[in-house]
Amino acid sequence: MFVLISFFLLTGLMPSIVSSYPIRLAKRDVNPRTKFVVAHHMVGNTYPYILQDWLDDISQAQAAGIDAFVLNIGSDPWQSARVADAYTAAQQSNTSFKLFISFDMSVLPCASSSDAGAIRQYITTYASHPAQFTYNGKPFASTFSGSSCTFGTGSVATGWQSVFAGTPVQFVPSFFMDPTQFSTLGNIMNGALNWNGAWPISLTAASISRSIFGMMQSIVPSLPSSILKTLGSLETDNQYLAGLGLPTTNVATNASSSLSKRSDGSVYMATVSPWFFTHYGPDTYNKNWIYLADDHLYARRWENLIAARDSIDIVQLLTWNDFGESHYVGPVRPHSAQPNSQAWVDGYDHQGWLPLTSYYAAAFKSGSYPAITKDQVVMWARPHSKNAVATSDNVPKPTNWELTSDTLWAIALLTSPATVTLSTCPSNSRTFSLPAGVSKISIPLQSGGNLHAVVSRPGQNNTVDVQSSGYTYQEGSVPTYNFNAFVVASE
Ligand SMILES: *[C@@H]1O[C@H](CO)[C@@H](O)[C@H](O)[C@H]1NC(C)=O
Ligand SMILES: *[C@@H]1O[C@H](CO)[C@@H](O)[C@H](O)[C@H]1NC(C)=O
Ligand SMILES: *[C@@H]1O[C@H](CO)[C@@H](O)[C@H](O)[C@H]1NC(C)=O
Repeated sequence: MFVLISFFLLTGLMPSIVSSYPIRLAKRDVNPRTKFVVAHHMVGNTYPYILQDWLDDISQAQAAGIDAFVLNIGSDPWQSARVADAYTAAQQSNTSFKLFISFDMSVLPCASSSDAGAIRQYITTYASHPAQFTYNGKPFASTFSGSSCTFGTGSVATGWQSVFAGTPVQFVPSFFMDPTQFSTLGNIMNGALNWNGAWPISLTAASISRSIFGMMQSIVPSLPSSILKTLGSLETDNQYLAGLGLPTTNVATNASSSLSKRSDGSVYMATVSPWFFTHYGPDTYNKNWIYLADDHLYARRWENLIAARDSIDIVQLLTWNDFGESHYVGPVRPHSAQPNSQAWVDGYDHQGWLPLTSYYAAAFKSGSYPAITKDQVVMWARPHSKNAVATSDNVPKPTNWELTSDTLWAIALLTSPATVTLSTCPSNSRTFSLPAGVSKISIPLQSGGNLHAVVSRPGQNNTVDVQSSGYTYQEGSVPTYNFNAFVVASE
């Protein structure tokens, strides 16, 4: 208890956050709008793509419950040709799959009227394309960043107005700014994307005393429940909703939010992500950190978003193919172009997260969890201990590595009650008696082990018996640091 109290004092995570769980919801409007799940797609990683790759991505994404790709475009001139292929493929897929563009303003220039014209060109080219994602009858457009772009005008509001120049657009950017200041941008925003809501980014090693954290982890096998509840917290979603003048999800009380819904059809787009690890030294992109995704973040965050679906119009999955930050759920194709991320991506296929995506996307869109029609186990782990030391890595351990725990995380989806056994070797095994439905389970990793899950019922052959292949968990020395996840899913 003393430890818990010190922990709260140190982290500033007040017990009120704990008692606010479970989440209760305020009803937003009488006619809930159609919900969508979209996935961020880095066009920058598609230089070698041919039309068939786009067709394959689209059919695989659609099977996972994804309605549209959000095409992140940067400044490479070749990207416009890939965008054209993507639109052609979506149309040729003969499905309802759609696309919209996210202008990556961390790399696109936005200082002049010709910069505005370059963005407008993309919008007008695809505004009436059959595969364009539209909302409120308008073509949809988004950004990564861009809250200080003026495009050579005197202000951000005028700058973005000059981009659209009278073309109706549902503009839902990810502006990294205080949401209470959204109103200072006039009416250019027709909604907002909460990019960083996908991870508990305020949880850092600096915010949590390392020794206290270590003590906590020696007492409980994974994070304390107080921290667990902040994983995928709806706090930042509420800040965005309030900033947009939309009713918040009522986390603390059951009282209705007093905010009234804006009449202009504002959209709130929340985010979900399975992972985050990037490992670039100062000689390249100079990005070397993790965001904590342990303790089944992917499932927890989805469950929170589903509980709060009355307030959320669109969930954006981060991402389909951002290999550099390790949060891809799509395949690493022969024609994928990795941004020099091979060291931590090769051999780390994440498609095992797609069945979870499909399950949760269906629940978000329909409002009820789909029936589980076959037993399935999805599990994942890092390849080496957080305490391992790299012998030949020019880049140090990623910032916030201390937050991680050396654990095999698993989700069991069961058609009826069953026994699930997780093991990494014969001497490191645990058996769980689980109910029908979704269960989150875990066991500690052990040096030299692999990942193994079995689902059994008395008098029945095992319905699942799945093991990793090409994975050995390492302690002590490793050649290079890799905090990516090795993901395994049963058929
Ligand atoms: C879409 O329909 C057209 C015309 O029927 C057909 O030629 C094409 O093969 C279909 N594409 C896919 C991906 O099924
Ligand atoms: C809280 O909200 C739920 C869902 O709208 C409702 O059923 C319940 O009666 C409310 N409880 C109180 C104490 O107002
Ligand atoms: C278990 O599998 C074996 C071999 O396929 C089969 O002969 C047997 O009938 C199965 N038992 C049950 C209970 O399904």
